[in-house]
Amino acid sequence: MNILGFESSCDETGVAIVNTEQGLLAHAVHSQIDMHKAYGGVVPELASRDHIRRVLPLTYDVLKNASLTIEDIDAVAFTAGPGLSGALLVTASVAQAFAWSHDLPTIPIHHLEGHLLSPMLSPEVPEFPFVALLVSGGHTQLMRVDAVGQYELLGETLDDAAGEAFDKSAKLMGLPYPGGPHLAKLAQGGDPNRFQLPRPLKHSPNLDFSFSGLKTAVLTTLRKLEKEGEVSAQDYSDLAAATETAIVDVLGYKSIKAMKQSGLKRLVVAGGVGANIHLRSFLEKQMAKLGGEVFFPPLALCTDNGAMIAHAASERVKAGLVDLTERNYSTRIRTRWDLAEI
Ligand code: KG4
Ligand code: ZN
Repeated sequence: MNILGFESSCDETGVAIVNTEQGLLAHAVHSQIDMHKAYGGVVPELASRDHIRRVLPLTYDVLKNASLTIEDIDAVAFTAGPGLSGALLVTASVAQAFAWSHDLPTIPIHHLEGHLLSPMLSPEVPEFPFVALLVSGGHTQLMRVDAVGQYELLGETLDDAAGEAFDKSAKLMGLPYPGGPHLAKLAQGGDPNRFQLPRPLKHSPNLDFSFSGLKTAVLTTLRKLEKEGEVSAQDYSDLAAATETAIVDVLGYKSIKAMKQSGLKRLVVAGGVGANIHLRSFLEKQMAKLGGEVFFPPLALCTDNGAMIAHAASERVKAGLVDLTERNYSTRIRTRWDLAEI
């Protein structure tokens, strides 16, 4: 069975085809980063308009690359939330109109479920149950995953997401949007120990996070440096290294705590921040010490894409969670949507 999947919850337009037996057949992503860069962040109205421009050409590309035609598609999946309303509406409308015109079932997908199951698109597939660390621009959560559709929230951020902490700190350092990868690059030549940044909630008894104080600490440090004279390239590098280390330290520490508390041996990391090399190597080392394993999505599928949406739909079909005889073309998008609700 071939599932065509769409994603447009934020600033990437993604389209993919997953076959329930053969896996990912083709996928294509268009990132709007260059367009939003000038504004230092995502401009929702521009995002929606660009999704409209990109979605059909990407769909034709994906069909061509998979050597399929529209007639070969058996179901249509799309991100139903959470995300920006105008952006979500684009592929939700295209997907449902397409499914309606071809009398196909639709499979609405929770964006975070897409991220959560995306490590299964790697050659090394994690078995259930596992703990998942979801770290994107909008979310930071630790979940226990017992099976497809069985998710229990273990802890989450009380304010900013880890990606947001990267992005906001990077912005203060004058780096382009989205700041995470730029900050990580700048940190390469820096001394992570020169500045001591806070690690809020690191030792709290639960598995929650808090990152909003970090950008304030970065700002305070910068102001202090500015008062002392011109901020040098080395100062910026050292501050970037301290910021990255603080975020990775808290994420890593809490993830390992979740492993110990749950008694599980497999950790799955998903979402854009999962591309961070230091986070990866910290978790690899710590999980090896625990006699466990850590799984990541392929690097190209860490950030938003259609493959994870089509794949999540495929897993839901295989788990018997989708009624393929149903024809519902009026699914509403949800800008806010708790994953534990599905
Ligand atoms: O999952 P994602 O593509 O989008 C959301 O659904 O939010 O994640 C994007 C986030 C951004 O905050 C970006 O700065 C961050 O992931 N990111 C990174 C790295 N690559 C992307 N953060 C730290 N280090 C990286 N290498
Ligand atoms: Zn995402």
